[in-house]
Amino acid sequence: MPRQFFVGGNFKMNPTSQGQLGSIISVLNSADLDGTTEIVIAPPSLYLIPLKDTVRSELQLSAQNCYYKDSGAFTGELSPAQLVDANIPYVILGHSERRTLFHETSEFVAQKTKAALNATLKVILCVGETLPERETGQTAAVVQKQLQAVVDVLQESDWSDVVIAYEPVWAIGTGKVASSAQAQEAHLDIRTFLTQAVSLAVAENTRIIYGGSVTAANCKDLSTQFDVDGFLVGGASLKPEFVNIVNARR
Ligand code: G3H
Repeated sequence: MPRQFFVGGNFKMNPTSQGQLGSIISVLNSADLDGTTEIVIAPPSLYLIPLKDTVRSELQLSAQNCYYKDSGAFTGELSPAQLVDANIPYVILGHSERRTLFHETSEFVAQKTKAALNATLKVILCVGETLPERETGQTAAVVQKQLQAVVDVLQESDWSDVVIAYEPVWAIGTGKVASSAQAQEAHLDIRTFLTQAVSLAVAENTRIIYGGSVTAANCKDLSTQFDVDGFLVGGASLKPEFVNIVNARR
């Protein structure tokens, strides 16, 4: 079965007002969106519940992070159980900003991935290499190490609710998008790894999306690559051009 094209909008810690959020949502609510694309937006967590009532039904919501415990004395954290109770279907885990700024290890990301899946959330699992790692030929090894930690704690059946976002750190928020060939090579490497580490079925069925300076101008070319199943969009997801990215395969 062909993999459904997937476009996620990671708003990160934006926008800074409910008025601006309303403007972003009203563009999406009135846009002509490709009905064959799965679309998920990840606003800051305080906007998740109110947005359920204002966003059109074709757009699913995602948290940008969660903890691995369901409740307790974990100040500032959000739990998988709370997201499920609020009918939020997705969570982004392992984003490079969490790994770098908040010192999340691959093992911690894996623990959270397992907990989120156990709670019935779907996970957008982010992996990717830094520029020095790419320049020293370590891209595949770095990504495989990040994925191996997750492979170690998941069952094969868990993978049906995982979307892998390959996001080279050097491309995030820099305007330096990976070339289509670089993205295709990295995605194929991930699929090959999944074949060996999990199964051929998981490798063939898991969506692998690209993130890092995706724009309306570069998305079409990237979307033609066989192993690029969509995008995780940061900055451009706050702009009207997000609609063009959702419609990249039209
Ligand atoms: O989660 C999204 C990525 O970090 C990409 O961000 O599109 O602003 O480069 P960007």
